[in-house]
Amino acid sequence: MKQLLRKKTVEELMDQGTGKVHLEKTLGPLNLTFLGVGAIVGTGIFILPGTVAATKSGPAIVLSFVIAAIVCALAAMCYSEFSSSIPVAGSAYTYGYVIFGELIAWILGWALLLEYGLAVASVASGWSSYLNAFLSGFGLEIPKALSGPFQPDAGTYINLPAIIIVFVIAILLTKGVNESTKVNAFMVVLKVSVILLFIVVGMFYVKPSNWQPFMPYGFSGVLNGAATVFFAYLGFDAVSSAAEEVKNPQRNMPIGIIGSLFVCTLLYVIVSIVLTGIVSYTELNVTDPVAFALQIIHQDWAAGLVSLGAVVGMVTVILVMMYGGTRLVYALGRDGLLPRSMAELNPKTKTPVKNTWVYSVIVAICAGFIPLDKLAEMVNIGTLLAFMLVSLGVISLRKNKSVNHNGFKVPFYPVLPIVSFLLCAFMITQLAAVTWIAAAIWFAFGLILYFAYGYRHSLLNKNK
Ligand code: ALA
Repeated sequence: MKQLLRKKTVEELMDQGTGKVHLEKTLGPLNLTFLGVGAIVGTGIFILPGTVAATKSGPAIVLSFVIAAIVCALAAMCYSEFSSSIPVAGSAYTYGYVIFGELIAWILGWALLLEYGLAVASVASGWSSYLNAFLSGFGLEIPKALSGPFQPDAGTYINLPAIIIVFVIAILLTKGVNESTKVNAFMVVLKVSVILLFIVVGMFYVKPSNWQPFMPYGFSGVLNGAATVFFAYLGFDAVSSAAEEVKNPQRNMPIGIIGSLFVCTLLYVIVSIVLTGIVSYTELNVTDPVAFALQIIHQDWAAGLVSLGAVVGMVTVILVMMYGGTRLVYALGRDGLLPRSMAELNPKTKTPVKNTWVYSVIVAICAGFIPLDKLAEMVNIGTLLAFMLVSLGVISLRKNKSVNHNGFKVPFYPVLPIVSFLLCAFMITQLAAVTWIAAAIWFAFGLILYFAYGYRHSLLNKNK
């Protein structure tokens, strides 16, 4: 039992990052906020608002976005305290190692692998549908059999564009983190611009009568909608996984995490107000609602630009999520819970090339063959579980004397972390039963892997 609770000290963790070949400290607060916005704004704003407004929240989707933002903001503060006190790679997984011990850390790492891996796969899959729509505007068509997941009844066998985009991003990531953040910044500017374009153009076509009835499916519909649009905010936690590559993390991590969440909340709230003001929610059950609304008001030029921005914008989500995922695998490998080869860095590019490829192949298989809805259903549960443990962990973190507490601190301690924990637990209850079952299988497999491999190969195993 004691072995399962073996913990790392902060000094041990900090020493790990100073080896001969280590991750470079290149990121400042602006890079981090860009990284955050890059990871956050994607499918959640370009695809989800349509179906959620039409079937769950109605025009009150704006409330769903606000509720989900509150849950994320509380968790974000807890993440910020951790990442400013323990600035090492691996995000919640590493925090768990210091606070709860190895077994819980592994479970957290396993939950995050689910989040990052399937988020990449689902966004790649959604990206492929937007690409299809965009190309068809030019009369180009990807053969049907190659354009969707393995669903022979529907005539699709493999989602080739989704697989290709995953591999293209993998190549970019292996080239080095600095190059990747430059490409990311360019794409973030582009996607935020098309969202602003939508707001500015759409604003003049809002008809307040479209906001009536405001809550057609009642408040339970709004909550249900909140559990779904929660997905739209995922990604800010990926910022914390970059901690080891950040200059002055104590100050910059909280700015990056909370700043990017704030920017995205503002964009989502305004977009959903404008969107449901232009078109009646009853008509929004489409896969490209933002572009669709612009077509309805005959602004086809803007619709085209928005589609282009969406295709580019989703790429940044894939980029940052995959970045977070590979750094997590790196941390797991370095600690011996996964094979050591997963923590090897290429001496020239200083990036974990081998692990990036293993990770991409698995993610590409999911993206290529599993339908988007099945993928997305699974993402939220892993994330909420991680948020719950991080929220609770802040309480133990404060009591931990070996940690430097000079950085960011969660206000209203301990009330805020407890409320954050309870809100995340409530959101989990809003998820479908089938998601619970699939998650149970994933975690059972994770435990088997831990006891068969990680437990014995862990660096902390003194009996090795
Ligand atoms: N937040 C990310 C998105 O909306 C996962 O695509």
